[in-house]
Amino acid sequence: MTNYEDLKDTFKFERLPLAYVNLDLLDSNIESIIKAANGMKIRVATKSLRCREIFDYLVKTHADSFNGFMCFHLEEANWLLDQGVDNILVAYPYFRSLEFEKITDHIKLNKKISVMVDCIEHLEVLNEVGMKNYCHIPVCLDLDLSVRFPFIYFGVYRSSLKSEKDVEKLLCSINEMKHIKIVGVMGYEAQIAGVTDNNPFQKLLNIPIRILKKLSISRIHKRRQKVVKLCRDKGHDLEYVNGGGTGSLDSTTLDYSCTEVTVGSGFYSPTLFDYYKGFKYEPAAAFALEVTRKPKNKMITCAGGGYVASGANSLDKIPKPYLPTGLKLEPNELCGEVQTPLHVKKSAFELQIGDPVFFRHAKAGELCERFNEIILLRDNKIQAKVKTYRGEGKCFL
Ligand SMILES: Cc1ncc(COP(=O)(O)O)c(C=O)c1O
Repeated sequence: MTNYEDLKDTFKFERLPLAYVNLDLLDSNIESIIKAANGMKIRVATKSLRCREIFDYLVKTHADSFNGFMCFHLEEANWLLDQGVDNILVAYPYFRSLEFEKITDHIKLNKKISVMVDCIEHLEVLNEVGMKNYCHIPVCLDLDLSVRFPFIYFGVYRSSLKSEKDVEKLLCSINEMKHIKIVGVMGYEAQIAGVTDNNPFQKLLNIPIRILKKLSISRIHKRRQKVVKLCRDKGHDLEYVNGGGTGSLDSTTLDYSCTEVTVGSGFYSPTLFDYYKGFKYEPAAAFALEVTRKPKNKMITCAGGGYVASGANSLDKIPKPYLPTGLKLEPNELCGEVQTPLHVKKSAFELQIGDPVFFRHAKAGELCERFNEIILLRDNKIQAKVKTYRGEGKCFL
């Protein structure tokens, strides 16, 4: 159990703000996630960790459970491949990038890399790159797994491949393209993995969402299974079928067509991942702000803090005061760009100017876009300081 006074003592000589990862809690999350994956290999979602040392830590401590990385940008993939990382799926398409030429260098060196496609335009660009560079470009088909109910579209708007028929049509065009090789299918059930169903900020929606999730899962699995069978029947030798995310481990691992599941956020377990009914991981990552003012009795103001998460605008995207307990955001200001006022309830530790206040981010990797380094703790002691992507001067999106 993390306690405020221990944390305060640990960081007494550190500048604030800072971000940290508690390795003991990270270890506990890794163990729980591997258990939940139930023998299925895990592909690490880099966007949700954004720190190379953490990737190394996962893979070195539990090599048998992991199977490569899911990157969020082509430039990122090339950079990681240059550092010796292998087995990368670039999960989101980018097509104005000169990075394709670099990718072909890696392909020729037998590095494992595949890029996401969902339409003929994507394939045409890649086929051309392959032709110019005398190689085959490994691609992964992105299958949309949104589900339509009367008056409700339960899903996201990303891939144009919505059905077996769409995939069949695309496969016919691929026959003409001699420099493309289909090596994978990804079907990410965003509405299961990424939608909270026990969220105190949307109490009335939790039960309907749980019902929609329950009704969707078998349809999702069937669609993914049919598309995988179709690809195999058409002679495409799939190396992997990827599905899921932290929020859908329990169901994705039941789909026999999946060979691997993606996980990222669950390792840090930010606040949005407290709001699922089916699991609970430990708050391994957090950040600290400095108390700089006391505007009135029972209020303090901290420096910084406005690290609001992406996605639909709602209160669950705002950082949450974590330690000491008993602090509450001021509803008219929430977390500010350079200052964050907090109400101090009776139970809160007696905070002085200069003291740290610990917060948790709503999302996982986005925290790393605010800090150059993460402080790694073991037994509540500083073990190391490691660079985030930002600290390495890398900003991909
Ligand atoms: C394609 C894809 N797969 C998997 C995930 C799951 O990642 P996480 O475990 O961080 O929720 C995401 C997250 O948005 C995603 O976009």
